[in-house]
Amino acid sequence: MSGFVDWIDDRFPLTKVWNEHLAKYYAPKNFNFWYYFGSLAFLVLINQLLTGVWLTMSYKPDAALAFDSVEYIMRDVNWGWLIRYMHSTGASAFFIVVYLHMFRGLIYGSFKKPRELVWTFGMLIFLALMAEAFMGYLLPWGQMSYWGAQVIISLFGAIPYYGEDIALWIRGDFVISDATLNRFFAFHVIAVPLVLVMLVFLHIVALHKVGSNNPDGVEIKKLKDANGVPLDGIPFHPYYSVKDIVGVVVFLIVFCAIMFYVPEMGGYFLEHANFIPADPLKTPEHIAPLWYFTPFYAILRAVPDKFLGVIAMFGAIIVLFLMPWLDRGKVKSIRYRSIVFKVAVAVFVISFTALCWLGMQAATPTNTMLSRVFSISYFGFFFLMPFYGWFDRNKEVPERVTDK
Ligand code: HEM
Repeated sequence: MSGFVDWIDDRFPLTKVWNEHLAKYYAPKNFNFWYYFGSLAFLVLINQLLTGVWLTMSYKPDAALAFDSVEYIMRDVNWGWLIRYMHSTGASAFFIVVYLHMFRGLIYGSFKKPRELVWTFGMLIFLALMAEAFMGYLLPWGQMSYWGAQVIISLFGAIPYYGEDIALWIRGDFVISDATLNRFFAFHVIAVPLVLVMLVFLHIVALHKVGSNNPDGVEIKKLKDANGVPLDGIPFHPYYSVKDIVGVVVFLIVFCAIMFYVPEMGGYFLEHANFIPADPLKTPEHIAPLWYFTPFYAILRAVPDKFLGVIAMFGAIIVLFLMPWLDRGKVKSIRYRSIVFKVAVAVFVISFTALCWLGMQAATPTNTMLSRVFSISYFGFFFLMPFYGWFDRNKEVPERVTDK
């Protein structure tokens, strides 16, 4: 075996990569459960890629055939129902895992120096993921696929002067049509997945250059032994490669329970209206995107002017990109930050969850009013970031990680 590895090493840096990124990549020894979500995002990505390839084998990207081809996959293709439910449940699971992964970064200050690029690549992944989910949702060609895409693409029409031309260019037609379905299929199946995989690679390369943060927000690279090994570091493999299996098992239990028993998740993972074929002549009474887009959709609807609403909606994503530069506090982890920051994070979580719920509801006057309040508190969390650091003076940040 070692002769074979030597043969490869002379031609390809196999052992070097293995050591640098696994066996001799020293990760802080105090990772908690929040650190499972990176490897879980990886797992879901692989699931989406594999099940996607198998769905493509029987799916037909044609407005006249798409809906029926999905029904064919569900009823006639061997194990087709399983592959489709793995993919549809995987889409929602992806967003759950990624939102928790981002939240971990937010509370432990993992977006701060020197991890600004890890965060930026992460945000680009998030954008690509949203584009991927949006385009994938058109493919089953159900009522919600059709009208959801119609609403979102027509938003571009709100851009002054060029708006209508841009919307026409995206659709490839005056309405959502076969041309739109074909291009969305091409993007969903090859272009965006390629970009996603490349971004994940860059995300990990950037992370391994600077090293992982941890729940104490202490830089373990500052204290090393005589061999240059961080005193508070342990090799990623086997310690975390094995520990991550615990996260995978728990995740798979929940994932399988949903997939086998409630794959539609009461209309949250697969909307009821999408079991009706797309009908360009019949607008559904209530159009709402899937749950992972609704916080941003609620912000869009909260603004009376359509164009300003579009700006607010995109602004809600752009502020996330700016976090490394908005937060001026020297302390990374929420453990050692002031009560002001903790309250701000709580307000942010409440606002995001409330907006998620409001985006699914009908736009009644009360709901619109509530959406406005929570949109303001959502943006408030970010715009007040430059000031949170002022209050971080009470708790001493330890020199070493506090591993119990
Ligand atoms: C396909 C999606 C993604 C995958 C596969 C992925 C993968 C990973 C992995 C494996 C790690 C190291 C393990 C860990 O710290 O949990 C990590 C760390 C990190 N990720 Fe992601 N990630 C994804 C999306 C994102 C997004 C959307 C963001 C935020 C905008 C993000 C921000 C971060 C940060 C800041 C770290 C460093 C955390 C720390 O050291 O405390 N990631 N990512």
